[in-house]
Amino acid sequence: MSNELSHIHRFAPGNRREAAPLLLLHGTGGDENDLLPLGQAVAPGASLLSVRGKVLEHGMPRFFRRLAEGVFDEDDVRRRANELADFALKARKRYDLAAPIALGYSNGANIAAAMMLLRPDVLAGGILLRAMVPLREPPQADLAGKRLLIVSGHSDPIIPPSNSAALTSMLQKAGAAVELRTLPVGHQLSPADLTVATQWLERQSALAVP
Ligand code: MLT
Repeated sequence: MSNELSHIHRFAPGNRREAAPLLLLHGTGGDENDLLPLGQAVAPGASLLSVRGKVLEHGMPRFFRRLAEGVFDEDDVRRRANELADFALKARKRYDLAAPIALGYSNGANIAAAMMLLRPDVLAGGILLRAMVPLREPPQADLAGKRLLIVSGHSDPIIPPSNSAALTSMLQKAGAAVELRTLPVGHQLSPADLTVATQWLERQSALAVP
């Protein structure tokens, strides 16, 4: 754990320089330890930067404030996404990292989507597990060259698949290449998420110029 930068985080250096680093963003009530095993499984040998959200909801860490389940304080979304983007830029310098791919779950996927829309320079791409539209009126972003995977759950009681589909078209309209997969699961992560995410990431590495 490190407190030197603006966010509590853990950094696990990888041993494959060519693998894009992952920025790991947990769900509500999680912390910087949660997604490290998933990151290691999805991208063996990649550097992992895992961050703890700074907002507390009844003691549970999150990345931004919400007014109710699925109803966001959008001013806070903007503020926190910018704060996290600044953290990511400083952490890149501190740890000598290329632009990361965000791997976020639920609230972590939502802040990753917001960061992509508000600060497109920061992330190379994203794997957004159970994500929804973070901003009703996002700024006009140029997301050409950005690649994202969105994985929704068909029976997710928190995030209807139609909302993940709306996020997909929002990002596509901004120019990103987005793949949407809907799994026969709910809000919780499943082994299928791991498989889909690993395969998607392998395809991105195959596309990368050696
Ligand atoms: C959110 O607040 O970001 C979403 O409702 C998902 C969640 O964290 O429950």
